[in-house]
Amino acid sequence: MAVLAVVWLLIMDRHDDDEVLSAPEFSRADQAVSPLPTALPLDARKVALGRRLFHDVRLSHDDTLSCATCHPLDKAGVDGLPVAVGIGKQHGTLNTPTVLNSAFSFRQFWDGRAATLEEQVNGPVHNPIEMASNWGEVIVKLKQDPQYAVEFRALWRDGVTAAHIESAIAEFERSLITPDAPFDLYLKGNDQALSEPARRGWNLFRDLGCIACHQGVNLGGNMYSSLGVMGDFFAERARPVLESDLGRFNVSKRREDRHVFKVPSLRNVERTAPYFHDGSVATLADAVEVMARYQLGEKLTTRDRDDLVHFLTSLNGHLPVVSEGHR
Ligand code: HEC
Ligand code: HEC
Repeated sequence: MAVLAVVWLLIMDRHDDDEVLSAPEFSRADQAVSPLPTALPLDARKVALGRRLFHDVRLSHDDTLSCATCHPLDKAGVDGLPVAVGIGKQHGTLNTPTVLNSAFSFRQFWDGRAATLEEQVNGPVHNPIEMASNWGEVIVKLKQDPQYAVEFRALWRDGVTAAHIESAIAEFERSLITPDAPFDLYLKGNDQALSEPARRGWNLFRDLGCIACHQGVNLGGNMYSSLGVMGDFFAERARPVLESDLGRFNVSKRREDRHVFKVPSLRNVERTAPYFHDGSVATLADAVEVMARYQLGEKLTTRDRDDLVHFLTSLNGHLPVVSEGHR
C-alpha cells in the first residue's frame, strides 16, 4: 500500500509539472532547446580587427585565400561545395561547416579536435591543402602593414603575435550570431512565427528523437554521436572510406570512436547545402531521410519529411551584416 501511495504521489507530481508547463506564461524554451541570444558581450575593437583578419588573404602562403574564401559571410558562412578547395585548387575531403553561431558549439571541427575558437584558427593556417602557411610567415607579412601595427598595439603591448591573431579572429566569430529565426520567435512565445507544416515538423523532430542529438541553443554542437546508429551509412555510400570518415577516432584512436562526429548545429541548415562531413548529400530533404534512416531506423512519409524540412527552414536567422570593401 505504501509503495502504491508513493507511486501515486509521483504520478501526481508529474501531473502537477504538466500543469505548470501548459500555463500561459510558459516559455517554450526548455532544457532541450533555447533561443539564440541577439548578441554576446564583446570587445568592439577586437571584433573589428578580427573582421579584417578573417578577410585577409595574407593568412595564406601565396596570398590567395582568406578565411572568408571558404566561409563567405554573405553565403551563410559556407562555400556551397561538397568538399573545401584550398591553396592551388587542392580538394580536401571534408565539407566546410559554417562559422555562424560557432561560438555556441562545445568543440570545433567535425571531429571536435579544437576545444576553442582560438585554437581552431591554427588549423586552416597550417593545413597544407588549405592556407599552407605558418605563424612566422603570416606575422612577417602583417607587421609590414602600418594599420595592423596601430590596431594590434592599441590592444596589446607586444603587437602582432599568433595568440593575438587567434584572439581577434575568435572574438569576431563570436559576433557572427543569427538571432530571431522564426523558431526563436516561436520559442519566445509568438505562435504565429511558425507555419502549420513547420510546427508539425517541430513536433516530429521531438517525437522521432532528432532532439536527442540536435539540442541546445544551436540544435547541435553540444555532443558527439556516431553516424550510422541504426545502419551502415559507409557501407551503403558506395565510395571508399577515407581517413576523414573516421571522425573522433583520428583524435582518440579508440575503436568505439570510429565514425563518431560532433553533432552539427542545424541553425541556418537550409542555407548550407550540401550536407554531412563528406558533403555527399545534396538536398536537405535527402539529408533528413538519411538521418531518419541511419540514426533512428525510421522510413519517413513524404509529408513528414517535408514537414521536417519546413521546421529546419524555420531555423534560418538574421545573417550578420557584411561590411563592404573586403576581399
Ligand atoms: C580551404 C577552405 C577553408 C579555409 C581557407 C578556412 N576554412 Fe574553416 N573550415 C574548412 C573546413 C573544410 C572545415 C572542417 C574541417 C574539419 O572539421 O576538420 C572548417 C572548419 C572551421 C570551423 C569549425 C566549425 C565547426 O562547426 O566545427 C571554424 C570555426 C572555421 N573553420 C573558421 C575558419 C577560420 C577562422 C579560417 C581562417 C583562419 C578558416 N576557417 C579558413 C574550410 C576552410
Ligand atoms: C543519434 C544522434 C542523431 C540523431 C538522432 C539525429 N541526428 Fe542529425 N546528425 C547527427 C550527426 C552525428 C550528424 C553529422 C553526421 C556527419 O556529417 O557525418 C548529423 C547531421 C545532420 C544534418 C546535416 C547537417 C549538416 O550541416 O551537414 C541534418 C540536416 C540533420 N542531422 C537532421 C536531423 C534530423 C531531422 C533528425 C531526425 C529525423 C536527426 N538529424 C537525428 C546526429 C543525429
